[in-house]
Amino acid sequence: MAAQSTQISKPTSIPASKYVTLRISKFNPKKESSPKFIDFKVPYQKWTTVLDAILHVKQNLDHSIGVRYSCRQASCGSCGMKINGRPALACFTKIIELNSDVITVEPMNNFPIIRDLVVGFERMFSTHKKIKPYIIREDSEITPGTKEFLQTPEEVEKYIQFSNCIKCGLCNSVCPTMATDSSFVGPQALAQAYRYIADTRDKGKKDRLKIIDDSHGIWRCHFAGSCSQVCPKGVDPAMGIQLLRGYLLGFRS
Ligand code: SF4
Ligand code: FES
Repeated sequence: MAAQSTQISKPTSIPASKYVTLRISKFNPKKESSPKFIDFKVPYQKWTTVLDAILHVKQNLDHSIGVRYSCRQASCGSCGMKINGRPALACFTKIIELNSDVITVEPMNNFPIIRDLVVGFERMFSTHKKIKPYIIREDSEITPGTKEFLQTPEEVEKYIQFSNCIKCGLCNSVCPTMATDSSFVGPQALAQAYRYIADTRDKGKKDRLKIIDDSHGIWRCHFAGSCSQVCPKGVDPAMGIQLLRGYLLGFRS
């Protein structure tokens, strides 16, 4: 895709110090056959994030830019995109740390594009739901007298990092297996399967192992490990996948 035009912003919402070229991928699949890049000159300060810069463009230069965000503090998982080719949260990436005069933003790979930088999460959320992301117990174990199911710090340690997942989809977007098998369960859901299976309060291990042990399931992963490298919350899906395989192969119980 070639850059089509450059628009220079009058610095209204960000006080000017330096300028960077923000190259935004524009694409409406309902009306166009392919994406095109448009360049915008945007002022930035040392605290300006990529999301701030996109919103500056949206406010001052092109209201039509499609971008999704909510919390602006790396909590909601809405603002994932490719920034200079690497998947990242736009609200958690500062312009200054990219060390580049041109910053290219594109929608994440392995997701359908809705418009510009916004992708569809339907499949990821339905796969997440499929692995039953909640504690499963028999009703009979929860009686009026039941107050707490206690765990030791060591038991919590086994799954706690996996519960930090914000469902941003960065791991799925960088997964080479997702790129070639659109039915692959994916690192996000597999990491969550491990999160609940490793929780001593949960009794759903058998169900979940059955769900992930199919032709588009856990065995399709060939351990590229890129999912763990891009996770902004320190989750290690690649390790979760290996630990899950241990259950399926009988090394873990
Ligand atoms: S595991 Fe990490 S990268 Fe993947 S969806 Fe969860 S928070 Fe995002
Ligand atoms: S806006 Fe919520 S994670 Fe970026």
